[in-house]
Amino acid sequence: MTDLRHPIFARLYPRIAAASAKAGVDAHRAELLAGASGRVVEVGAGHGANFPHYPPQVTEVVAVEPEPRLRRGAIAAAAGAPVPVSVRPGRAEELGLDAASFDVAVVSLVLCSVRDPLRALAEIRRVLRPGGELRYYEHVRGGTPRKVRVQRYADLVWPFLAGGCRLVRPTDALIPRAGFTVRAERRFEFPESGPNPASPHVLGVAVRD
Ligand SMILES: C[S@@+](CC[C@H](N)C(=O)[O-])C[C@H]1O[C@@H](n2cnc3c(N)ncnc32)[C@H](O)[C@@H]1O
Repeated sequence: MTDLRHPIFARLYPRIAAASAKAGVDAHRAELLAGASGRVVEVGAGHGANFPHYPPQVTEVVAVEPEPRLRRGAIAAAAGAPVPVSVRPGRAEELGLDAASFDVAVVSLVLCSVRDPLRALAEIRRVLRPGGELRYYEHVRGGTPRKVRVQRYADLVWPFLAGGCRLVRPTDALIPRAGFTVRAERRFEFPESGPNPASPHVLGVAVRD
């Protein structure tokens, strides 16, 4: 069974995403995808918020999404995308796609939520061709003990409210451990100020070794 059901989160997420798009997330999505080309797999595509940002050099996007309601949103968004997008069920840990069949893999705000991120990264690595790119935009574990402490407390309830998302996950450290070489990475706070425990972010490109 590939479906993962988070009905309340799935209902709220498109509205949260629309609000954060205006606050700066759209610019991050555009930065994430600038320069991508060829055949792309997008893992945990949600309701397709990245789709408008794919550049014309992308020949095809295979978007994998396990949550049925979000997947329906992605199918609707695919119809208006600037490049061909097909949407299918599946989980990051088991994509059900051919080995070495993609030039680029995209994850945005996803590796915080998958149960086993190293397994997911191994599976993403499997479907990428050698030299293929992993493009990632994720919130991550804080850079100070104080921030990590706040995240640990918030993580007592956060996963129940946010579709299984965990705040203290050191995704930026896991990517190199999973057999990728980081080519470029930008670490930043978003929002820039305030008490948001999900503010530490990374946006980068890593290459499959
Ligand atoms: C915060 S949303 C982000 C959605 C989208 N990537 C975006 O940038 O708007 C987290 C997404 O991860 C998906 N997800 C959770 N666990 C997953 C898994 N094991 N495999 C693939 N996707 C997963 C959720 O269904 C949801 O679509």
